[in-house]
Amino acid sequence: SHFKIGIVVGSLRKDSFNKQTAHALIKLFPQEFTCQFIDISALPLYNQDDDSHTPSSVIDFKQQIKACQGIIFVTPEYNRSIPGVLKNAIDQASRPYGTNAWNEIPAGIIGVSIGNISTAIAQQHLRNSLAFLNMPTLNQPECYLKWYDGMVENGQFSEKTATFMQNWVDAYVAFVKQNNQ
Ligand code: FNR
Repeated sequence: SHFKIGIVVGSLRKDSFNKQTAHALIKLFPQEFTCQFIDISALPLYNQDDDSHTPSSVIDFKQQIKACQGIIFVTPEYNRSIPGVLKNAIDQASRPYGTNAWNEIPAGIIGVSIGNISTAIAQQHLRNSLAFLNMPTLNQPECYLKWYDGMVENGQFSEKTATFMQNWVDAYVAFVKQNNQ
């Protein structure tokens, strides 16, 4: 069978290290997997008053999520948590109550930072929300990347990072298969 994986990037920055990492990441997947970026940049700010007339961009966003057999969050850490734009996207797709689009989709978390502890705290915060939203989430291996010059070149990981990331992808692939039986 075939598996569709949605990639949600937590940075809107054009040259985002997380975006570059996500593009290199998707090249490491086996043939029966298709990775598709799910854009969060045009979503409105969540407002519970809109639950009675959900904006069409949100309905479309939720449909894209529900069509996936897996979701990978590739996100920076902002002020020791996840960026507000990512939290907004998570909140948008979780509502109106009873229509949580994230439900039961196996998740993976990757984070790139320029800091020494990488995105460790942001990832733990993200895990809290994903647990509440009933997304089974890959626990090990964890993926905390510290950006360095040459980590991604011409859309591909350097040799040493490729080895590390292939190991992560292999574990996530097995996890997605296990959770889509
Ligand atoms: C940061 N950065 C950062 N890094 C980190 O390791 N921990 C943190 O808490 C923060 N906080 C933070 C807040 C804000 C508002 C910004 C703009 C940045 C630095 C961050 O790692 C760096 O900007 C990355 O380049 C962001 O990822 P992208 O946009 O390159 O994917």
